Amino acid sequence: MKRLANKVALITGGGAGIGAATALLFCREGAAVTLVDADAQALEKTTRSIQAELPNAKLNHFTANVADEAQAVAAVQQSEGASRGRPPILLKLSAPGFRAKRPKNEGGIQHGKTI
Ligand SMILES: NC(=O)c1ccc[n+]([C@@H]2O[C@H](COP(=O)([O-])OP(=O)(O)OC[C@H]3O[C@@H](n4cnc5c(N)ncnc54)[C@H](O)[C@@H]3O)[C@@H](O)[C@H]2O)c1
Repeated sequence: MKRLANKVALITGGGAGIGAATALLFCREGAAVTLVDADAQALEKTTRSIQAELPNAKLNHFTANVADEAQAVAAVQQSEGASRGRPPILLKLSAPGFRAKRPKNEGGIQHGKTI
């Protein structure tokens, strides 16, 4: 039995980084996932990538800037449609991550590189 069978998840910031990686893992474990991101292109790319790897993934996506209340509410409503009354797992990863604000050099550390 998959560990997240019959679970639903709403992942904001799902177009990239940790959100996208978590979405793949959750889909692999059987969750029904709603991916939300403000970046429509990143969202499409991540969705296609997961569907290519997991053709039976229960995955839908919704473009929204969750800093905007009306858009955030619409995103939750989209997820509720998939949840059919089950309480969702909410993962909020929608913020500029290290990729967006990667420092050139911070005390010798270069994020995203093995040094
Ligand atoms: N990467 C790390 O090692 C690390 C470590 C600790 C904490 N974090 C935190 O985790 C979160 C995600 O990090 P990441 O590296 O995956 O970031 P990322 O930049 O790769 O992805 C963040 C995603 O959030 C989306 N986003 C940003 N603002 C949004 C909004 N208002 N509405 C909808 N979508 C929005 C972006 O379009 C992007 O696709 C960040 O808050 C980051 O600070 C990251």
